Amino acid sequence: MCVARDWRNRGIGRQLLQTCIEVCTREGFIEKLELEVFSNNPGAIALYRSLGFELEGVRKGSIRKAGEPVDIICMGKWLT
Ligand SMILES: CC(C)(COP(=O)(O)OP(=O)(O)OC[C@H]1O[C@@H](n2cnc3c(N)ncnc32)[C@H](O)[C@@H]1OP(=O)(O)O)[C@@H](O)C(=O)NCCC(=O)NCCS
Repeated sequence: MCVARDWRNRGIGRQLLQTCIEVCTREGFIEKLELEVFSNNPGAIALYRSLGFELEGVRKGSIRKAGEPVDIICMGKWLT
């Protein structure tokens, strides 16, 4: 997910993900949400943790940014 730069840190990202979790929970048949995030994005990781997503794994050096390998963090949240 991505919030326009000028609108970040105003609670919009939290609201978007919270709404996503609520809608998926209400649907009743969705058991689990999963996401991936670059390891060098501590703000996003903190946001996901605070909404109940747990670390499930790391894909080491899965992508290159500016020529440098970056890990991808896999996170999940059970709704049941
Ligand atoms: C990640 C992103 C979606 C968050 O959206 P946002 O609207 O800025 O976030 P919010 O204002 O709702 O929430 C901020 C929360 O993130 C966390 N956070 C943000 N920056 C942080 C930082 N530098 N260090 C630690 N936590 C941070 C805090 O937990 C904060 O929680 P709070 O509500 O208790 O203050 C937004 O920054 C973004 O679009 N970034 C660029 C794209 C991106 O990185 N997307 C994620 C890809 S997986």
